[in-house]
Amino acid sequence: MNKEEGCTTQEVHQTESSAVAESGEVVVNKHKGFTGKIGFVLAAAGSAVGLGNLWRFPYLAAKYGGGIFLLCYIALAVTFGFSLLVLEIGIGRLTGKDVIGAFGKLNKKTKWFGFVSLVVPVLIVPYYCVIGGWVTKYLFAYLGGEGTTGAMTGDNAALYFNNFISSPWEPIVFFIIFAFLSFAVVIFGVQKGIEKIGKILMPVLAVLSVGLAIFAMCQKGALEGIKYFLVPTVKDINIAEVFLAALGQLFYSMSLAMCIMITYGSYMKKDTNIQKSARQISICDTAFAIVAGLIIIPSVFAFSSSPEDVMQNSGPTLMFVSLPNVFSQIPYANVIGALFFLLVLFAALTSAISLIEAIVAVLRENLGMKRWSACLVVFGIVLLLGIPSSLGFGVLKSLSINDMTLLDIFDYVSNSILMPIVAIGTCIIAGYFVNFRAIKDEIGIKAYSWRDKYFSVMIKIIAPVCMLLILIFNIIGL
Ligand code: PHE
Repeated sequence: MNKEEGCTTQEVHQTESSAVAESGEVVVNKHKGFTGKIGFVLAAAGSAVGLGNLWRFPYLAAKYGGGIFLLCYIALAVTFGFSLLVLEIGIGRLTGKDVIGAFGKLNKKTKWFGFVSLVVPVLIVPYYCVIGGWVTKYLFAYLGGEGTTGAMTGDNAALYFNNFISSPWEPIVFFIIFAFLSFAVVIFGVQKGIEKIGKILMPVLAVLSVGLAIFAMCQKGALEGIKYFLVPTVKDINIAEVFLAALGQLFYSMSLAMCIMITYGSYMKKDTNIQKSARQISICDTAFAIVAGLIIIPSVFAFSSSPEDVMQNSGPTLMFVSLPNVFSQIPYANVIGALFFLLVLFAALTSAISLIEAIVAVLRENLGMKRWSACLVVFGIVLLLGIPSSLGFGVLKSLSINDMTLLDIFDYVSNSILMPIVAIGTCIIAGYFVNFRAIKDEIGIKAYSWRDKYFSVMIKIIAPVCMLLILIFNIIGL
């Protein structure tokens, strides 16, 4: 037995059986978990593939030396990203519980950390649904033929977007539509809702994204964009900055420190190989980010007169202003615009669903709520926090702090501050305060193997230090 650890493997298993005996809910979980490996991988990959891949990855790659960023990102994904991903899935499956139950079961003294972690999804879901609403609005706009009316051409593009987000009612309507769609899936449960939608939407997403990338790359002038994205450029690059940017993006993109992978891990079958699944999730996520870059950057280069300036924009400006402007120059603007925003909508939907499920699981397993009543409570929270965020660009603009709207504030607090803290806490708790061996056994890491040593060093030292650097970097805003 390792002295530094909170409890032994035997103790964990003892707690497990008593927990199963105490609460029928755990048993329900096991039976109503993902039916198999593919269901789990697609649902987790659906969570990982989201707005981050579409509006941040291509921009960061363009900013930080193209291929250099890509290489750095891939190297970090197979080392750091992979280790954190298997750790979270392992904690979930070992304990078979929601995030609060999981930290409590690992060691009674660390239960409080589950509550801290839960703040992350509670803060993210509302504003993620607001942005999902914007995506829905743009999908409708293209379906309605607005892409060719000139409403989104040139300077009009920014005007169109600003008019929309500052309207006192329009963003709320679309926010509610998006939130409703997400909850409509979660209410059907893990197998009939989350797993099923993953199995349908992920293949559609793959076909749509590859199709759009091929279309973009075939346009005249696109080659310059492909080179800009993929060929490493070393000039003016600060490698430490590239490293931190890649690391920050990676951990957001893989849905780490959001309670998601612990929750999904708890629904995973015992005979599914955690490491293999994590590898597949990482490959899907990275491949999708690269394909997103191959849609966006070549289109910008083919249809914009100052492509490098356009690529300085990230986030909402890139997606809702620059790209619609680019699309308005493309033949069949409405078709391409609608297909693109459909892609974004599906990507955002599967991510929102995973966040909602993480909160619903906590309510069901700790307060014994039924799925539908838990969904209702979470929907209430989402409305409560989402409506003000949605109005933060118009009616509630006065609530901005330092030019940060309510939505930016939620985003900053959850992503830049809380998520690194949760990631550091998860590593420290797993590595020093609970039975780390039991988690490693669950993941399938044999004692005394090189993998064992590597994983220990990664979780106990390297990952917390890297996350601390990100936290400092985010706070001082370099
Ligand atoms: N991985 C997601 C992305 O890239 C991040 C995320 C997941 C955000 C779930 C919200 C909800 O966008």
